[in-house]
Amino acid sequence: MDIKNKTILTGIKPSGQPHVGNYLGAIQPMVNLSDQASKSYFFIADYHALNTLSPNQSLGDLVHLLAAQMIASGFDYKKHYLYRQSDIPEIFELQTIFNSFTPKGWMNKSHAYKAAVDLNRLNNKDVDNEVNMGLYNYPILMAADILIFNTDLVPVGKDQVQHVEIARDIATRFNSRYKSDVIKLPNYYLKEEVKEVPGLDGRKMSKSYNNVIPLFATTEDWHNAVKKIVTDSKDNHTEESIKDTVFYKIYSSISSNEQNKKIVDQLVNKTIGWREAKDELLNIIIDRFQKMSEDYFNIIKDPALIDKILKDNALLIQPQAQDHLDKVKKVVGI
Ligand code: TRP
Repeated sequence: MDIKNKTILTGIKPSGQPHVGNYLGAIQPMVNLSDQASKSYFFIADYHALNTLSPNQSLGDLVHLLAAQMIASGFDYKKHYLYRQSDIPEIFELQTIFNSFTPKGWMNKSHAYKAAVDLNRLNNKDVDNEVNMGLYNYPILMAADILIFNTDLVPVGKDQVQHVEIARDIATRFNSRYKSDVIKLPNYYLKEEVKEVPGLDGRKMSKSYNNVIPLFATTEDWHNAVKKIVTDSKDNHTEESIKDTVFYKIYSSISSNEQNKKIVDQLVNKTIGWREAKDELLNIIIDRFQKMSEDYFNIIKDPALIDKILKDNALLIQPQAQDHLDKVKKVVGI
């Protein structure tokens, strides 16, 4: 799909230090898409994060971290908009209006809620155990995020398609109730599936498994991570068997086709062993992520500057939000 003349909008929940898998799967595709779109709204969904925040996490810190991450990754906040959801209070007023137009049954079917219910059933707990209203109403807030601006496309992964469809359904219901077209219907834009990068032990890359390659790190951190990648002690390898290793799956997600081909040849022909292959991977990680990492560490040192960037961006778009909310309120009679 051509997104050149489109307004795209998407949000991410701030959730902590990213790893290379998050970057390749979510951050980089979003930055690339924004470079193609005519306007891109990217926001940090802090109110969404509040639903699942644990007592030892500071929401403010998490927001700074995600903002610094987006800036270091090249999101062009001077051309597009990088903002904090909570800096646009019109979103929450719109959500309150949408509450009245959203059947409860739609929320029962929403899969964030359903997943929580299923888990509770599995553990023989009350179905609504630990489900707060924020989680239950999550799709209505998400609809308000999207519909407050005249969004054309919402880039999302597969798991969020249903939520964008709910936003469309809410918009359709509202417009038809008032015979109006005040709310623009958005579409989802399914982000290209990027092959998942496995963790150092071959399981899914995840902080809870302690098997990640951190995105923002020092050479020493990367060295220690790469050292931990599991390898085998087979004497002979074929192209297929190399391609099936955890090492290769990680390596090939970061390197070019040419580099991939070369390393397979070298390992099969035994001109290098795992140690040299890992050194090569470390060099590639450094090449690809060191500059970005340094930028990140510089930015994160100055939370006041991050706040200013977020606030300035929010102030630029708040009049649009206000204007649109006023139109919606007028239709409703408020
Ligand atoms: N629910 C999304 C996620 O968990 C984050 C999000 C919140 C979002 N509001 C949004 C994404 C609006 C796109 C549009 O990833």
